[in-house]
Amino acid sequence: MKHFLWSLACWLATSGAYSQNVAIQHAAGRTSLVLDGRWHYIVDPYETGFRGFQGATADETGKLGGFFEDSHQRSPSDLVEYDFDKSPSLDVPGDWNSQNDQLLYYEGSIWYEREFEFHPRQGKRYFLRFNAVNYEAYVSMNDQKLGVHTGGFTPFAFEVTGILHDGMNFIVLKVNNTRKKEAVPTDNFDWWNYGGITGSVMLVETPSVYIRDYRLQLARDDPHRMEGQVWLDGAGAGSKITIRIPEAGLQKQLSADHEGYVAFSMPVSGLQYWSPDHPKRYEVLITTEADTIRDQIGFRTIQAKGSRILLNGIPIFLRGIALHDEDPFIPGRPRSEADCRMLLLWAKELHCNFIRMAHYPHNELESRLADSLGLLLWEEVPVYWTIDWTNGATLKNAEQQLTEMIQRDKNRASVIIWSVGNETPNTAVRERFMEAMADSAHALDSGRLVSAALLTRTNGDSVFVDDPLGRKLDIVSFNEYYGWYGNDRPWQINRYHVSIPYRKPVLISELGAGALAGFHGDSTTRFSEEYQASFYRNQLDFVQRVPNLVGMTPWVLVDFRSPKRLHPEFQDGWNRKGLLSETGQKKSAFYILRDFYIKMEHAEPSGH
Ligand code: GCU
Repeated sequence: MKHFLWSLACWLATSGAYSQNVAIQHAAGRTSLVLDGRWHYIVDPYETGFRGFQGATADETGKLGGFFEDSHQRSPSDLVEYDFDKSPSLDVPGDWNSQNDQLLYYEGSIWYEREFEFHPRQGKRYFLRFNAVNYEAYVSMNDQKLGVHTGGFTPFAFEVTGILHDGMNFIVLKVNNTRKKEAVPTDNFDWWNYGGITGSVMLVETPSVYIRDYRLQLARDDPHRMEGQVWLDGAGAGSKITIRIPEAGLQKQLSADHEGYVAFSMPVSGLQYWSPDHPKRYEVLITTEADTIRDQIGFRTIQAKGSRILLNGIPIFLRGIALHDEDPFIPGRPRSEADCRMLLLWAKELHCNFIRMAHYPHNELESRLADSLGLLLWEEVPVYWTIDWTNGATLKNAEQQLTEMIQRDKNRASVIIWSVGNETPNTAVRERFMEAMADSAHALDSGRLVSAALLTRTNGDSVFVDDPLGRKLDIVSFNEYYGWYGNDRPWQINRYHVSIPYRKPVLISELGAGALAGFHGDSTTRFSEEYQASFYRNQLDFVQRVPNLVGMTPWVLVDFRSPKRLHPEFQDGWNRKGLLSETGQKKSAFYILRDFYIKMEHAEPSGH
């Protein structure tokens, strides 16, 4: 039986054999072969290509077996029961659900295969990098296993130097997006479980000693001091590194330690600070003897002081909106810079200076776009609703996703808040999990603010935001849907008063009501634009009575797909709380919020 099947246990047993996930900073700034385009695929609901009848192990030649193996028949009498060349293809990047109606609801495994010609250069190293694959990816190249990545929204890369052929190469990966209790997110969430290779794929080339990672930002409490770190890969002690910011007349000579690492701090003056109104970025060059990386970085300080948020030392109100990473016109995960830009420009049209990227890290392009467009960002890991709190592997997974998110966007001026979760019920086991997450976020990045979208506790007309997790957060954020969920109608919510035991900045991370664009009625008619408009008018009064409010991100910029939204007429698989419909139609409430933000903008002290 030529065709051997591979079992998970066998794959894990040989885990030592495959390369580690390498986090390369700003890979897009490097020489690379982009492998986007059409990839063959095989839908494999029964894991036939991975397990098969006997659960066999790798064959005696050490070949991976299963569908990882080159599927070309050697002779017509060979029994091969799959053939990528003759299989259909999908766009990469792109979720599979929006590319084939039969895959709209598909959750399970799909195999991807791509062949490409390449001629590796002497003395260079090569990394196969994925921007995002939802949810679990088993990756191989040329019949060699590279590794496994879990988590649907953050980049990962494997070194393939020495595995690459001088000529034809092939990549095979098994992608599985099955929802699981112990996963992150867990098996119940209010968005579409888009599966597949949803981000770009590239073969990145570096010198043998290269700048693997760097972080540059102003010191949290001192706009006249720049702090940074550089990680070289393959370098020894004393390796020379130069940081240059030509436009600011800044240059710093450094030398790495025996692990190729250096941290530094230097005084700076005359910098133009990055802000939404003035999204100034500087070209930064980091050079070593063998390598150079260029990046566009904005410099700003962000602090929580008492009950205020200070951007570059000046109080700011975050005129925000929440957003899912979905292009409604596809509908599916954004596939291009244009898709991402459209979403962010809609937020600008609303006069926002802030976006909550819900509930998972969004396409890598969006934070760079936000840097250039002047939008502040809240980024979040999908620790959402009822996670498997007592499962150590689940915590490890959540922390890995947090680490990868911060690793990816730590040089983005636009990103000011890391969120460690959304609407997680206040229990002792959850508390331990979430406190660990908040501590990790603070440890990973002391230059930004940490928050989470908390639930409220209501008693009569009193709303309490007293979740103990608030102690660990820099900003106390909460979701409230008074006037939509529960018994109140929009005009009844002003009876509530909110009490928050923390003297910290407060942010309303969600408020919203559903409306089917074009459906009209009076303001008591659910799903009518008038009901949603009435909701916003009353909420915008109500929020002004929330103590220490420094911002809000109403739910949500645009209608998004959710398998949990099943009313055939009003929802039909869409969460309708958008201020824009899935066809880009602005609902009445869009203008109510926009006008509210315009008024705030005019009232705000300049300088942001
Ligand atoms: C929740 C949740 C969102 C959800 C929204 C809604 O609060 O955080 O993910 O979509 O409410 O009910 O529309």
